[in-house]
Amino acid sequence: RNVSLIGAPTDIGAGARGASMGPEAIRVAGLAEALQAHGVDVEDRGDLSGPRNPWQPPVDGYRHLPEVVAWNRAVHDGVHGILKDGRLPILLGGDHCLGIGSISAVARHCRDTGKKLRILWLDAHADFNTSALTPSGNIHGMPVATLCGFGAPDLVQVGGFSAERPAISPKWVRQIGIRSVDQGEKRFVHEQELEVFDMRYIDEMGMKHTMELALATLDANTHLHVSFDVDFLDPAIAPGVGTTVPGGPSYREAQLCMEMIADTGRLASLDVMELNPALDEKNRTALLAVDLIESLFGKSTLMRK
Ligand code: ARG
Ligand code: MN
Ligand code: MN
Ligand code: MN
Repeated sequence: RNVSLIGAPTDIGAGARGASMGPEAIRVAGLAEALQAHGVDVEDRGDLSGPRNPWQPPVDGYRHLPEVVAWNRAVHDGVHGILKDGRLPILLGGDHCLGIGSISAVARHCRDTGKKLRILWLDAHADFNTSALTPSGNIHGMPVATLCGFGAPDLVQVGGFSAERPAISPKWVRQIGIRSVDQGEKRFVHEQELEVFDMRYIDEMGMKHTMELALATLDANTHLHVSFDVDFLDPAIAPGVGTTVPGGPSYREAQLCMEMIADTGRLASLDVMELNPALDEKNRTALLAVDLIESLFGKSTLMRK
């Protein structure tokens, strides 16, 4: 497989500064070299650019909306270009608002090539807020709702979509690891029938059964997109994120999750989001992310692929 890395160094949608340093921290942790060691052809397209973070309070329920739009347009074009070249994009975030640009590009590509899209959203949060529901105005809490057509028109329209014909359907999404959902957001998740495997579910049923269900509807024609918010992981092993929530997957559970995704052979695009080196300890969260991404690309203990 041919992989292209693309960095989006911004924290424009987040509630803490520092995710803008995520792309470089992942590079320093050796992502390209690790994948190359497993026989993957890796190219690094460098970093996108966009407006600086003005660090202003929300306006009408959105913080930094024009800047978020600019960054997502850039991400959309970058990711779409990689897909058109027949390569697998890895978006290095940057905060999770950039999932709008990335996944709209993937959705457009799938529509144009007749592929069935499935999205695995690995996160502590559902990221299903709207401007009316959000307690913070931070747009990194809104990408899933926006992609489903519920969001600021300029964001819903990234990639040529609209509220009537949105980039994705809630039916295409499987959320794993969820353990922090705001009050209004919770109602909206139920109303839109998002398929959520929360931590309670993982505790009771185990990661293996959870992933079997989450991956059950894949077929040979499926494009599988993984949107990996690093705060998915338990903060004891992954402190380098702005919105830690206790009680996340352990190292073993996260490895199994990644390995079972790899086994499907359907992974076709990836976001690695919310890594915040300003809050990390000697880059350990970035190193852990690289370790997990190696598993996602088929690294296993005994078999060499
Ligand atoms: N639900 C909270 C909010 O909307 C937190 C969102 C955190 N999202 C994330 N991508 N880390 O403000
Ligand atoms: Mn290694
Ligand atoms: Mn999160
Ligand atoms: Mn997120």
